[in-house]
Amino acid sequence: MNTPMNRRQFTKTTVATLAGMTAVSTSLHGAEKAGRTARLGFIGVGGRGTSLLRNTLGLKPARVTAVCDVNPASAARAQKLVVAAGQPEPAAYTKSETDFERMLQRDDVDAVVISTPWEWHAPMAVAAMKQGKYVGVEVPCAITLEECWQLIRTNETTGVPCMMLENWSFRRDNLAVLNMIRQGLFGQIVHCHSAHSHNCIYWYMDARGYPRWSGKHLLARCADQYPTHTLGPVLSWMDINCGDRFETIVSMATGQFGITDQLTRRYGADHEPASYDWRQGDVVTSLIRTAKGKTIVVNMDMQLPRPYDNRWMIQGTRGLYSEERDSVYLAGLEGPAHRKEEWELFKPFQEKYDHRWWTEAISSIPHAQDHGGTDSLQMHLFVEAVRTGTPLPLDVYDSVVMSCLFPLSEQSIAAGSQPIACPDFTSGKWKTRKPYFALES
Ligand SMILES: NC(=O)c1ccc[n+]([C@@H]2O[C@H](COP(=O)([O-])OP(=O)(O)OC[C@H]3O[C@@H](n4cnc5c(N)ncnc54)[C@H](O)[C@@H]3O)[C@@H](O)[C@H]2O)c1
Repeated sequence: MNTPMNRRQFTKTTVATLAGMTAVSTSLHGAEKAGRTARLGFIGVGGRGTSLLRNTLGLKPARVTAVCDVNPASAARAQKLVVAAGQPEPAAYTKSETDFERMLQRDDVDAVVISTPWEWHAPMAVAAMKQGKYVGVEVPCAITLEECWQLIRTNETTGVPCMMLENWSFRRDNLAVLNMIRQGLFGQIVHCHSAHSHNCIYWYMDARGYPRWSGKHLLARCADQYPTHTLGPVLSWMDINCGDRFETIVSMATGQFGITDQLTRRYGADHEPASYDWRQGDVVTSLIRTAKGKTIVVNMDMQLPRPYDNRWMIQGTRGLYSEERDSVYLAGLEGPAHRKEEWELFKPFQEKYDHRWWTEAISSIPHAQDHGGTDSLQMHLFVEAVRTGTPLPLDVYDSVVMSCLFPLSEQSIAAGSQPIACPDFTSGKWKTRKPYFALES
């Protein structure tokens, strides 16, 4: 069973059997847990891929057997990191933009972690699923509606698990809020706010102030181009894809002022890219209405100077949580007339409703600094699913729905902020699917 070929056959059979299932029998889980390692291939080892690689190298049951990057220096750096962690040197694939396809042929790769430019995410994830490899793909997993459907169709036909690595779904505070929601503290959920307010101008530009791959998307498109950090926790807070679904989306963008101003101030008024015709507006605001009548306001705000901010707020019939205020308000069972309408600090609630991933699982993970340990927790859960042949913590439907705001907001903005119907990526399954993400039991 432990030979590479047997293991590969096993993985293919197991994931095919598990297709569409939300729970895995405990006997399979127990049997597969014994001694198995997850053998990973990393595609794209630039900034983010290297960071995820470091997180993974701290996890005992993971081995990195292959790395792939079009930049040979990046692949060589990744190989060195793996060797420094005491593992054999992984194979490197650096020949071309499609060399990942050769890597996917390897029998000693059970899963891939994809951290490449956005336009490669869906093609790489689809190719990996077709080769029976578990997929962890960076955000967003798709940037067109066609790519969204390709991911869904490939997952449904192959049965191979595919997860977008949306790390904010695993944040400690967001998971405690999820527990509070599931225990009914806020009553019926009605409305939510979330934002990705993060000045990323120098992630979009190269060292000379010219657009790199990410900046080229700002030149070409006007949309919420980074919708998943905002929507990650919101999906489970609102039972999206398991009881409810996004139905209608309206988006509006400001004009573009921030890129020009930031580039001019840093590089001078003559700097050519400062006067490019950037399509992307500085702040994009989207409004989503669900089939069950809830609404969500989402901001993308990534090219104005400002401190980082998410501004999550979730509101129900009996109270609300505000990340910005670090507070909650609970009306209590007897109703607001019996209680002062005042904020309470979130900290005691965080302690009381802390998720077991943060009280138990985290103790077995070397505590990496990235995003307060969130990324290490995410990679730990990914590796555990791969090595036990069980479903990934986030599924393809949630991954796609978090990402689909990119193309749908673009359509709405282009049409003068017209409402756009959101496709039902679950083909009706949202009506009967049960919540599966981060269950405590
Ligand atoms: N979740 C998070 O917190 C977070 C943070 C940063 C970035 N990201 C995401 O990670 C991804 C990568 O971002 P980054 O900042 O690391 O970018 P980057 O440019 O630093 O890294 C991308 C890497 O992919 C390589 N690459 C490009 N095309 C390739 C191909 N066809 N085959 C193999 N390798 C290829 C590049 O050479 C580079 O090393 C993006 O999707 C971004 O949105 C997520």
